[in-house]
Amino acid sequence: MKKPVSIVTGAAKGIGKAIALQLKNDGFFVVIADMDVEGGKLLEAELGTKNSRFIPCNISNENDVQQFFEHARKISGSIDVVVNNAGIIRDNMIWKMSVEEFDAVIAVNLRGTWLMCREAAQLMKEQNFGRIINIASRAWLGNPGQSNYSASKAGIVALTRVLALELGRYNVFVNAIAPGLIDTPLTQKLEQTVLQKLIEAQPTKTMGKPEDVARAVSFLANSKTQFITGQLIYVDGGKSIGANLF
Ligand code: NAI
Repeated sequence: MKKPVSIVTGAAKGIGKAIALQLKNDGFFVVIADMDVEGGKLLEAELGTKNSRFIPCNISNENDVQQFFEHARKISGSIDVVVNNAGIIRDNMIWKMSVEEFDAVIAVNLRGTWLMCREAAQLMKEQNFGRIINIASRAWLGNPGQSNYSASKAGIVALTRVLALELGRYNVFVNAIAPGLIDTPLTQKLEQTVLQKLIEAQPTKTMGKPEDVARAVSFLANSKTQFITGQLIYVDGGKSIGANLF
């Protein structure tokens, strides 16, 4: 396969889909990993089978992830870029949050990303090249109602920093992106009044688009981008700067 190869998890919709489209336009072959079989097949059809392949995968399941990598490797030989984007929310104030809600979010967002990173690290270390891009969230700084989600995303930031240290000598760069409020099926589920308050709290007074995150991924995935590793790039309309009282 002549094209550079990328893997994008959670690509069936939202930010992951925009990342897959961007990477295809950047000249990558895109291996789509998602639990949503219908959405995954639709995206494969949209990108074309010359440019993409959908392989169903639940990233929180160790066997699934290992089989996914075996399959992807058979198709492509080497893998240049892995984008760990799949994630879920189960919001509640901590006094109302169940252990199931906590475990579900940690299992997908943190363990799932870690499982994908473990396979990618092994492979990229052997190749002596590669890029891992983890989608964290501005919420790692803290968000009421998201003790599970914020903890999972803080875990992803720490994981990114550790892997940058472990893999730098193998020419593997590992970075993370922290999106703020982005217009996707995930945020479309929020109550309108809550959403309006969140938009009002933004310095830009707008939501971001999935394509805004995809462009940051494109920068980190580009082989000309060198010497950047272990970093976190905010794509959040400035929300991470802090209080915005006017
Ligand atoms: P979304 O809910 O629109 O799409 C998530 C995709 O991940 C879906 O296609 C879903 O099927 C897939 N997925 C879920 N669990 C999976 C699993 N166990 N294995 C494989 N695939 C799985 O979400 P959205 O908004 O596109 O978010 C993408 C990423 O960006 C997530 O990690 C999210 O935490 C993060 N993010 C989103 C923000 C937003 O405002 N939308 C803000 C900050 C971060």
